[in-house]
Amino acid sequence: MSLFKVKNSWSGQKFPHPPGRRPVAYDAFNLRTGTPLANIMRLGAGLGPLFEVRVFQQKFVFVADAALAAELCDESRFHKNLPPAVAALREFVGDGLFTAYDHEPNWHTAHGILMPAFTKSAMRGYHETMVETVDEMFAMWGDRTGPIDVTADMTRLTLETISRCAFSRDFGSFTSPERHPFVDAMIAALMTGMQKSAVEPIPGGKRIARRIDEANAAHLAYVDELDDDLSRERRASGARPGDLLDRLLDESHPQTGRRLDDTNIRQQILTFLVAGHETTSGALSFTLYYLSRHPDVLARAQEETDALLGPDPDAVPTFEQVPRFRHLRRCLDEALRLWPTAPAFARSPRETTRIAVGTDREAVMTPDDWAIIVLPMVHRDRRAWGPTADEFDPDRFLPENSRGRMKNVYKPFGTGERSCIGRQFALHEAILVLARLLHRYDIAGDPDYELQIDERLTIVPKGFRLTLTPRTPNSRPAGAPASDEGPADRPAGTCPVAH
Ligand code: HEM
Repeated sequence: MSLFKVKNSWSGQKFPHPPGRRPVAYDAFNLRTGTPLANIMRLGAGLGPLFEVRVFQQKFVFVADAALAAELCDESRFHKNLPPAVAALREFVGDGLFTAYDHEPNWHTAHGILMPAFTKSAMRGYHETMVETVDEMFAMWGDRTGPIDVTADMTRLTLETISRCAFSRDFGSFTSPERHPFVDAMIAALMTGMQKSAVEPIPGGKRIARRIDEANAAHLAYVDELDDDLSRERRASGARPGDLLDRLLDESHPQTGRRLDDTNIRQQILTFLVAGHETTSGALSFTLYYLSRHPDVLARAQEETDALLGPDPDAVPTFEQVPRFRHLRRCLDEALRLWPTAPAFARSPRETTRIAVGTDREAVMTPDDWAIIVLPMVHRDRRAWGPTADEFDPDRFLPENSRGRMKNVYKPFGTGERSCIGRQFALHEAILVLARLLHRYDIAGDPDYELQIDERLTIVPKGFRLTLTPRTPNSRPAGAPASDEGPADRPAGTCPVAH
């Protein structure tokens, strides 16, 4: 391959790019390290639906527009591809479910083996574990009156939840003051991918990438060992709790009969430990941030918990009650609209095709080309979301306000057959946690806090703290229903469960 060959060249087509391009390095000097999403949102502002950023010989093409994103989500014409930052993760998680290319047999095998772990009846089986895990977080908070570090505690919670539900493994997150070393090792692995994909296009980048690998080798060895331990212990114990790990170890694909080998099992364990908690932790943290900033929306959320759970602050929603927190669900959806915690995914056409036909961004796209859909930009496109697109307004997801909205413009869980396998798990967990937390506590954020984003492929709020004050029957508004009357916006007599 020629030294000067442009990667992801789009047959030489040129798209709008940020000002200040330089010879050779192109847009490289416009990028700040460690914040790829912030870079793209800053540099792409005003560049229109399709724009490019070039770092030496690597061209990145970004989609910021709802209509074009919807076009690229058409599964009959497009499929998932891996942008460099995700492809770099393959060193650690290989062809695990998230990082596999569509055509790789292990994707098909693992998908078939693991789908039963994400059905509605499987969710019913996880409910009790989720409840107990929240209980432990409350116990850790005890009678504390000082502020909590929201992202750190939501990360403890979601890591424990996925590790207990999927691997029947207790990470001890609530009993140790330090975060589990797995979290540090995982962040190191995610950062490695991000850093390496950032430096690889620059001259001498391969050498720097090797140094990044060396610096993270111990973390990665630790993660591999932890994953292998999980499988070894399970096989040795003879116990079969019927969890996701059992499926990985014992099941074969229902149609092909193929099984996963030990290397792939290790990669799937790491995939689920990472994908199964970071994003949900961020989603919970952003939702709590917005609730703390919108007292009226918060008050309605607490009215809803009072209506469904009654006056007892320790009341626990049943499995069937969780989908009935309709207002809370809209708050979560809206937080994921503004800050989708897996903020981008890449698409390529199945065959050479023309995109954005009839617009000034019409372009030819071949199967070798990929474009990155930048969700926080797509989710704020005024043509889809109206003039208040930048504002937090959960009511935009009310059925009457959603009618007539462009289709395929809300994609926090990705799209098509490669969309998030854990979506129902994440939603059930997040609503359960929010309902219990807001029913039990009044929350107050620091009014001087300005939202900052920590980027590690996924995004979470940085430095966001909340003060929690236990709610008592007296602190509830007079006239709050005794129990289970259902949220105010549901017409009487309609089925409360989302079908
Ligand atoms: C709010 C929480 C979550 C969000 C926002 C989220 C988002 C996403 C997105 C956008 C994708 C598609 C990525 C792409 O096209 O490249 C994805 C895939 C995936 N997610 Fe999630 N996710 C969440 C929670 C979870 C949970 C709880 C699990 C596991 C229990 C999980 C496991 C996965 C896996 C394994 C994939 C790859 C699926 C495949 O390609 O077959 N995610 N997720």
